[in-house]
Amino acid sequence: MLFEKTMPTLNWIGKEAVVNHDKEVPFKLLKKVKSASAGENSQNLIIHGDNLEALKALMPYYHGKVKCIYIDPPYNTGNEKWVYNDKVNSPKIKKWLGKVVGAESEDLCRHDKWLCMMYPRLKLLRDLLADEGAIFISIDDVEHSHLNLILNEIFGEENFVANIIWQKKYSPQNDAKYFSDMHDFVVVYAKHKNIGTEKDGWVRNLVSRTETQNARYKNPDNDPRGPWKPADFSVKTYSKAYDYPVTTPSGRLVNPPNGRSWSTSQENFKKWLEDNRIWFGKNGSNIPSVKVFLSEVQEGTVPLTIWLRDEVGDNQEAKQEIKEILEAEKFPFDTPKPVRLITKILQITTDKDSLVLDSFAGSGTTGHAVMDLNKDGGGNRKFILVEMEDDVAKPITAERCKRAIEKYSYKDGFEFCELDKPLFNEECQIEETCDFNQFATYIYFTETQTNIDKGKIDKNFIGEYGETEYYLIYKEKHKNVLNKSFLKKIKENGNRRVIYADKCLIDEDILEKHKIQFKQIPYEVKVY
Ligand SMILES: C[S@@+](CC[C@H](N)C(=O)[O-])C[C@H]1O[C@@H](n2cnc3c(N)ncnc32)[C@H](O)[C@@H]1O
Repeated sequence: MLFEKTMPTLNWIGKEAVVNHDKEVPFKLLKKVKSASAGENSQNLIIHGDNLEALKALMPYYHGKVKCIYIDPPYNTGNEKWVYNDKVNSPKIKKWLGKVVGAESEDLCRHDKWLCMMYPRLKLLRDLLADEGAIFISIDDVEHSHLNLILNEIFGEENFVANIIWQKKYSPQNDAKYFSDMHDFVVVYAKHKNIGTEKDGWVRNLVSRTETQNARYKNPDNDPRGPWKPADFSVKTYSKAYDYPVTTPSGRLVNPPNGRSWSTSQENFKKWLEDNRIWFGKNGSNIPSVKVFLSEVQEGTVPLTIWLRDEVGDNQEAKQEIKEILEAEKFPFDTPKPVRLITKILQITTDKDSLVLDSFAGSGTTGHAVMDLNKDGGGNRKFILVEMEDDVAKPITAERCKRAIEKYSYKDGFEFCELDKPLFNEECQIEETCDFNQFATYIYFTETQTNIDKGKIDKNFIGEYGETEYYLIYKEKHKNVLNKSFLKKIKENGNRRVIYADKCLIDEDILEKHKIQFKQIPYEVKVY
């Protein structure tokens, strides 16, 4: 368990087998597929593969770097007729459950399976999240309560932010047995909600004001400062000093309503009155209110926990968006999300250059929303999408992003990647196709738990951390030797060195003298 504080936890069959399974997932390499990519040198990625392995493969590159994670995992509705519904029962996940949970997996109920599937993936997602990052998860009633409990375990209940209600449809279902289900949840957790100063943890942005919100501001007295809205001048928290009579322009004496006091001192009230910030109604005899000017609140509003379809779209709008782009006759998905919904999430939690991750990508709405927000100088956010299904990843996720780029002239592109072989092959040797940069990135990460700065790689030098420098001799099999001529090339600067190579031809005492620690490939390469 990640948090020691005692709190109610959820138990299910198979839990023991999966709580630390994220540590056992083999590290696989990623292979770029140029023909399925779009544009040149884009840092956006679409990965085809099971997200458990894909998230692990991303770790050396993006550990602690992702500002916003949005996921829309299978809701586990048991409805199998859709392309991506209930993937807990998909053959790939069944096979995985069989392997990890063992014979017991045959007896698991639907909820057990879903929880086994989600738990290790959520742990990896948390590791990828930046300290200032947050995760947003779409879910409905079937797994909502379970999800909140495992998120409390993995993220800490103190990092719970909100269960947003999203109005997913407009027309009520009049033949519903009990209630017509009109909403989904978007569950929000921060990696660190309140650590140290506000800056250390997650800071949410304000959201842009809607037309409807702006329309509430009027200007009945033609104030030259523009439209305003009256706000209550009395408050619930009683203070004797703020309880004083006020004379209205019509000469009426008014006191705060019963049990309440005014929101400011008498002195301040006078200043506001002189500045024409107090409103007594058209007839000048109402209880006072304070004028809140639109020009002073223009920077945005605090996000609410109810998101209506008028503002962020619904499932129907999402289907329409995909239909228009993919020109699909038959619609393959039941529950895609509209671009406006994801855009709102991005507005709340990203900056212009943030990295966004969606590891249950489906039709690629998250990629589309990122590119749309970036357009016309709107930013340079990057996205990583992961999709497991063969008949979705290339033909739908990547194709939708590709067509959106063409249709809306987005400046972004993406690299399409397949999950490749594991770094360690069956003989526990380093996979031959692994190149220097891939291996260096892995080694640097397992040594430092931070991501390599590729710009600093200089021949065999792959980076430094604290007072230790890291070197990798990895060119050709049987030629990766730490010898005297290599030693001569390293400048003395008092730092400790860790050097990875196949073989070492230098005596122990010389290594010690030069503060060198030799690590033999592959035996001393840490399994991460
Ligand atoms: C509910 S859909 C996401 C819909 C998406 N938000 C959209 O707007 O189109 C879930 C997707 O996750 C994929 N998926 C399920 N399990 C997965 C796994 N283990 N790894 C990667 N993708 C997975 C499914 O194939 C499906 O396409």
